[in-house]
Amino acid sequence: MQFMDIKNGRFYLGDCLEVMKEIPDGVIDLTVTSPPYDDLRTYNGYSFDFENTAKELYRITKEGGVVVWNVNDAKIDGSETGTSFRQALFFMECGFKLNDTMIWLKPTFSAVGALKTQYAPVFEYMFVFTKGKGKTFNPLKDRICKTKAGIKRKPTMRGKDGKIIQNVENVSKEIGQRFNVWTMNTVKQKGENVHPAPFPIDLAHDHILSWSNENDCVFDPFGGSGTTAIAAEMTNRKWVCCEISEEYANMAVERIQNHQSEEKSESEVKIESDIPIPEGEEEGN
Ligand SMILES: C[S@@+](CC[C@H](N)C(=O)[O-])C[C@H]1O[C@@H](n2cnc3c(N)ncnc32)[C@H](O)[C@@H]1O
Repeated sequence: MQFMDIKNGRFYLGDCLEVMKEIPDGVIDLTVTSPPYDDLRTYNGYSFDFENTAKELYRITKEGGVVVWNVNDAKIDGSETGTSFRQALFFMECGFKLNDTMIWLKPTFSAVGALKTQYAPVFEYMFVFTKGKGKTFNPLKDRICKTKAGIKRKPTMRGKDGKIIQNVENVSKEIGQRFNVWTMNTVKQKGENVHPAPFPIDLAHDHILSWSNENDCVFDPFGGSGTTAIAAEMTNRKWVCCEISEEYANMAVERIQNHQSEEKSESEVKIESDIPIPEGEEEGN
């Protein structure tokens, strides 16, 4: 198996199933990944064996570890395929708990063809699975609260019988814990040789901060252009990535080697324009 050790991690060139065979049981703290979904993109013609990948992810994940699985459905013959939900249910059959169905909201997405029959599809799923009870959660606190800060309040909620239950009195804060819908622009890498569907550094970065601690080991079986590895470097985690396409793996290795903290602003351009995408084609992974 071909690999290269770079900084705090190892980048493998190969099929993720073959690579996972090399990884012992229960050593990965967190997986952040975005597999090829449905047939939205061809990725140089490579595909993967979903069910065995999910089983292997369960085996290599530490007790209490997390898998973040970013996916979406293609729309075929007027219907979404439902692949994302089927995959989530299969992860649960493997033994994972579905801790959260998070949403990646892409505010500048545009798919003109689709608008004839539906509202603009502007999100992707980020399923968060835990192996047993999650061992790490470092919630990000950067949401500007709507209520004015410093106001005393007695929040209420309804019990199963519909009766109102009074919660403990608290004082409203200016900044609160993030919700489970994250708004992030899609990105395009600069240059000639670029990956067709990288996810934003922020997406990997913020999941890594949320579900792991420094020196933990982060894995990405579908490494693409190495975004997870770079985010792991930025947050002082160890990492393991693999990528089946030699072209993308070479790009990733170069990108990780060149990575500096300015990476975020230098090599990615946020897609701000609403350029129409022809019917049937979607921005996404
Ligand atoms: C959605 S992309 C990942 C992009 C990545 N998150 C990034 O930010 O660059 C999926 C990647 O999985 C790779 N891939 C497809 N089948 C694979 C397999 N069996 N093993 C490893 N990688 C595979 C594709 O070549 C593609 O680069």
